[in-house]
Amino acid sequence: MSIAFIDLHPAPTDLKRVVQEGLQREPRQLPAWLLYDAEGSQLFAAICDQPEYSLTRTEISLLESHAADIASTLESGVGSGIGSSVGSGVVVEFGIGNAKKVAPLLRALQPKTFVALDISRSALEHSLTGLAAQHPATQMLGICCDHSQLQDLPTHPWLTGERRIGFFPGSSLGNFTPKDAVLLLQQFRHLLAGGPLLLGLDQPSDPALLEAAYDDAAGMSRAFAFNLLKRLNRDLQGNALPKNFRYQARWQADQQRIEMALVSRCAQTIQLADTAWSFQPNERWVTEHSVKYSPDAAADLAAQAGWQIQQRWHDDQSQMSLHLLVPSN
Ligand code: AVJ
Repeated sequence: MSIAFIDLHPAPTDLKRVVQEGLQREPRQLPAWLLYDAEGSQLFAAICDQPEYSLTRTEISLLESHAADIASTLESGVGSGIGSSVGSGVVVEFGIGNAKKVAPLLRALQPKTFVALDISRSALEHSLTGLAAQHPATQMLGICCDHSQLQDLPTHPWLTGERRIGFFPGSSLGNFTPKDAVLLLQQFRHLLAGGPLLLGLDQPSDPALLEAAYDDAAGMSRAFAFNLLKRLNRDLQGNALPKNFRYQARWQADQQRIEMALVSRCAQTIQLADTAWSFQPNERWVTEHSVKYSPDAAADLAAQAGWQIQQRWHDDQSQMSLHLLVPSN
């Protein structure tokens, strides 16, 4: 088995600046990636195991049951005009995902190379080592970078002349504003250089069920949001008190999204790094949005970024869709 890494040394994030910017917004809101420190990542994994949150399970089973069909659609040559056959092509995953998601694809497609792009070198090493053991015929290439800042994939013999197939599962796009989602999809189109993109998005459904999925009875979603305070208190020498906030997840029909927030229980001032932030009673500190895309909304989003949807695979309840996007001429 072969594994290689390219480290583009992404600039370390200036946490203090990111927090300053986000807390000045109206309403206050920090980028969702801040939720994923070590403890946050564990809490997110726990959310995925909750009975109310079926997104991850549904997507894995979709991938498992349709991988062969997805592979034959890809092999018939969508996107770049040339089909990829077993032992050729490059699967590019944006961010390190759940290995259970990419595994069925790798088994069905048997690409020559799998590329993962992630900001964390250690996460790349860990995940690619595990995948390499399961997929010895596929070369594993980790690129440590911020993919939104990339002009192009770096030059590497494993990538030369190979068709690229993008993979962005998990409804990760839902965390972005629709405007930023368009920018990200444009960036993927550029990085994939004519190749297709397999995009996993979940769909709007019963608001009560959605709200329960983001406020599970076991309290994992709540703990995930409160972990943000814990993280900021630790990393910015802050003094935010969890007991002065409550957690709320609510469906916002006009924007087709779940808003997750810490709601201030009282008038309070918290200190983070060297800045004081005042909250009114009931003022919301948005921790995250999760936008849901109907098939029509997904097609519209794709079109704005220069993609068209070639095919869609979905579960019986149409909760989750795998969209196969190809560049619109
Ligand atoms: C990782 C963005 C897909 O929005 O469903 C789940 C994050 N946050 N529960 C989602 C999340 C709280 C998740 N995504």
